[in-house]
Amino acid sequence: MDTFDVVVIGGGPGGYIAAIRAAQLGLKTACIDEWKGADGTPALGGTCTNVGCIPSKALLQSSENFEQAGRHFAEHGVKVKGLELDLKTMLARKDKVVKASNDGVAYLFKKNKITLFHGRGSFASSANEIHISGGKDETISGKNVIVATGSNPRSLPGADFDEKLILSNTGALAITDVPKRLGVIGAGVIGLEMGSVWRRLGADVTILEALPAFLGAADEAIAKEAAKVFAKQGLKIETGVKITKVESKKTVKVQYTVSDSSSKSLEIDRLIVSIGRVPNVVGLNAEGVGLKLDERGFVAVDGDCRTNLPGVWAIGDVVRGPMLAHKAEEEGVAVAERIAGQKPHVDFNLVPWVIYTTPEIAWVGKTEQQLKAEGIDYRSGSFPFSANARARALGDTSGLVKFIARKDNDEILGVHVVGPFAGELIAEAAVAMAFRASSEDIGMLCHAHPSLSEAMKDAALAVDKRALNI
Ligand code: FAD
Ligand code: NAI
Repeated sequence: MDTFDVVVIGGGPGGYIAAIRAAQLGLKTACIDEWKGADGTPALGGTCTNVGCIPSKALLQSSENFEQAGRHFAEHGVKVKGLELDLKTMLARKDKVVKASNDGVAYLFKKNKITLFHGRGSFASSANEIHISGGKDETISGKNVIVATGSNPRSLPGADFDEKLILSNTGALAITDVPKRLGVIGAGVIGLEMGSVWRRLGADVTILEALPAFLGAADEAIAKEAAKVFAKQGLKIETGVKITKVESKKTVKVQYTVSDSSSKSLEIDRLIVSIGRVPNVVGLNAEGVGLKLDERGFVAVDGDCRTNLPGVWAIGDVVRGPMLAHKAEEEGVAVAERIAGQKPHVDFNLVPWVIYTTPEIAWVGKTEQQLKAEGIDYRSGSFPFSANARARALGDTSGLVKFIARKDNDEILGVHVVGPFAGELIAEAAVAMAFRASSEDIGMLCHAHPSLSEAMKDAALAVDKRALNI
C-alpha cells in the first residue's frame, strides 16, 4: 500500500491549494479527485473551476460585453450595427476558460510532484486508509488526511433538478438558447450573478426570495443601492416569498405567496434554483470511521480545522463558515502548515465577499447592522461614485463606498462597496484592516488620480466629515 504524509480528498480550491502547500513544505502528498471533464479525464479544480467561480465569471464578462455593445457603446460615440448574440461561441469560450484552469491545476500538481488519484475516495477500515474507487481500485494510506469534498446545490422540495427545465448552477451555466422567461428561486449570490447573465442576454428574469429583506448579509445601504440599480436594469426581484408549488412540463409554473399572503403564480421557460448549498459527504464512509458531522451535516471541526479523528482535518465548503473559494484556500494553506508544525492563523473576519454583478458588490468586515446588534460604537462615511472622476470617464457612476470605523480609536471595522470594480477595490480595505489601520490612515494615503480608488480615500475621509470631493 502506498503511504503518504498527506492525502487530500477533493481537488477543489481547498484541496488543491492544501496539496500544493503540503508539497512545498516537503511532505509526500497525494490528492484524490473524482471530477471528470467532457472526455472523461480528470478535471481538477472542483466546483469552483468546473461549475462555479470560473465559468460564471467568464459568462458574466461575455454577457456584460454584449450589454455594453448593445446599450452603452452609443453614448461613447461608438455605433454598432447588426449586433448579434452568438451563444454557442460564448459557451464554447467559457468552456475554454474552464479547461485552461483545469490544465493550470494539473500543471501545478506535476510541478510540485503531487500524486493524483482519479476516482472517489472513501475511508476504508481506519481513518488513515483511503480506498479509491471508480478508476483503478486501490487503497492508500496517509499519516494525515484532509477532507476537502466541497458542497452540492440544495434542491427545493418538490422541484428536483433535471438540468433541462429546473436548473442548478451546472445547468444555469450551460443553457443553449436564451429563455424568453427565466425564473430564479433565491436572490443570493448565484441568483443575482446568473440572473444578471441571462437578463443581459435577453431573458425576462424574475427572482423570488424568501427573506423579507434583499441581500440581508450585505450592509443595508449597499443592498438598498444595489436593489435600485438592479430594478433599473429590469431584474425583477420579489422578496418575502413562500413557494407553495412547482410544476414542470413544457414550461415551469411556480406558485407562491408573498408576505401579505396574497397568492401568485409565475410561468417561465426555465427555472434556476439557487437556495444555498449543502456539504458533500456522500460516499466518504464518514459514519464507518466515526467522523463527526455537525447538526447541519458539515464535517465538525475546531477553529484549526481539526476533526474528532486524530490526523484527520477538513476544510472548505464541507465545514462551517462562508462557502467561498478563497476561504477554502486559506484553510488549506493553514492546515498544510499546521501538519508541518507551523502556527498559521486564518482571520475569518477578513474574508472578503464579492458579488460579480454590475454594479459589483464587495465588502469586508462588519456591516452597520452587525455593529448595532453587537453594541459597538462606530462612525461611518460614504462617498458616491457619481463624484469620482474616473467613474465618470468610465460612464459607470452608480454606487458608493462606505467606511465604518470604531468611534473611540477610528480603527476600520468594515468597508462596503457597490460600484465599478468593487471586487478589486476591496483588497485595499482587507490589507488596511489586516494591519489594523484607521480610516484616517487611508485618508492620508496618496491615491492615484483619476482612479476609482480615490473613492476609497474620500469615503475614509468622510468618516471624519472631511471628504474632499463632495
Ligand atoms: P469544491 O470546489 O466543491 O471541490 C470539491 C472536490 O472534491 C470536487 O472536485 C469533487 O468532485 C471532489 N470530491 C467530492 N467528494 C469526493 C470523494 N469522496 N472522492 C474524491 N473526490 C471527491 N466562490 C468564490 O469565492 N468566488 C466566486 O466567484 C464563486 N462563484 C461561484 C459560482 C457558483 C455558480 C458556485 C456554485 C459557487 C461559487 N463559489 C464562488 C463558491 C466556490 O465554488 C466554493 O466555495 C469552492 O469551490 C469550495 O471549494 P472546496 O475545495 O471546498 O470544494
Ligand atoms: P446563497 O446562500 O447566497 O443564497 C440563497 C438565497 O436563497 C438566500 O437569499 C435565501 O434566503 C434564499 N432562499 C433559501 N430558501 C429559499 C426558498 N425556499 N425560497 C426562496 N428563497 C430561498 O446561496 P446560492 O446563491 O445558492 O450560492 C451558494 C453559495 O455559493 C453562496 O453562499 C456563496 O458562498 C457561493 N457563491 C459565491 C459567489 C461569489 O463569491 N461571487 C458566486 C456564487 C456562489
